[in-house]
Amino acid sequence: MHASTSAQAPVTVLGLGAMGQALAAALLDGGHPTTVWNRSAGKDEELVAKGARRAATAAEAVAAGPLTVVCMTDYDASQAVLEPLADTLRGRTLVNLTSDTPERAREAARWAAEAGIDYVDGSIMVPTPVIGLPDALILFSGTRSAFEAHEPSLRALAGNLPFLGTDPGLAAVYDLAMLNIFYSAYGGLLRSFAMAAAEGVTAADFAPFALEIGKIMPPIIEGIATDIDARTYPGAQANLAMMAAGVEHVLHAGRAKGVDMTGLEAVKASADRALAKGFGEQGFTSIFEVMRTDEPA
Ligand SMILES: NC(=O)c1ccc[n+]([C@@H]2O[C@H](COP(=O)([O-])OP(=O)(O)OC[C@H]3O[C@@H](n4cnc5c(N)ncnc54)[C@H](OP(=O)(O)O)[C@@H]3O)[C@@H](O)[C@H]2O)c1
Repeated sequence: MHASTSAQAPVTVLGLGAMGQALAAALLDGGHPTTVWNRSAGKDEELVAKGARRAATAAEAVAAGPLTVVCMTDYDASQAVLEPLADTLRGRTLVNLTSDTPERAREAARWAAEAGIDYVDGSIMVPTPVIGLPDALILFSGTRSAFEAHEPSLRALAGNLPFLGTDPGLAAVYDLAMLNIFYSAYGGLLRSFAMAAAEGVTAADFAPFALEIGKIMPPIIEGIATDIDARTYPGAQANLAMMAAGVEHVLHAGRAKGVDMTGLEAVKASADRALAKGFGEQGFTSIFEVMRTDEPA
């Protein structure tokens, strides 16, 4: 899928860790003249062999074109590199694909706005081997006109690149909420395998049944969204009081076998707060009503 180089816009990549290298390689594969820079030497050898231009300094790299993509450990790292480059970046577009919190993204966007830089924030939601493929998902938010102007170049990085809105923190908001699903579900899976193992059931025997539960989750996600947006939690078919009792059975059995049940204890604590608020006859999703507060932590 090498496109014609002459038609493609130049792109600069700052930060050549595992992900930065994958991004630069995908840009090269897409035919983009690609300039690369990394703090430490030696991480650009394969990219240079593929046709990348090595910049001696970050400022030289940024000056090479209208679009700079940065991907570093966190915003402490990216701002340490970017802030001294404000004059060079002025009038250009900066796409920050570093992962961090929504507030760090908003701070970086405020800094960029003051410096006259068009700022787009992004969150990469796939591992390095998927970068550049049609299924690759990168979330974007921030300056819409800059995103739209550079979308053809960004498309070399991911086939799926939703623009979530002009709040530059939105990409990180979605990223972290998705990661919470991932880590909570992963922890729940491991706890279930531990419960099965504690009763002598092998992981191979249990896995097909874990998959059965996985299959019921997609329609549940859709139902949750409908209920939360309507703030109505129908419980006629399965209510919170009944399901909280079910949670208690799981806790009891797991604890009896010495399994670490702390993740599910947190779910039970939220369920108990919803029960105390009178949601017992409503659906399990009514727990949402006690999960958030408008008070910052
Ligand atoms: N790898 C993945 O699968 C993946 C997936 C999704 C999202 N991400 C996100 O992508 C970002 C980069 O991840 P990665 O896997 O590429 O990390 P990595 O391999 O650890 O690379 C980190 C990069 O940050 C640079 N860096 C760190 N501190 C710096 C500083 N103070 N000044 C200048 N450069 C600095 C490093 O430069 P040196 O080489 O000089 O140390 C290196 O280029 C992270 O935010 C990560 O969460 C990664």
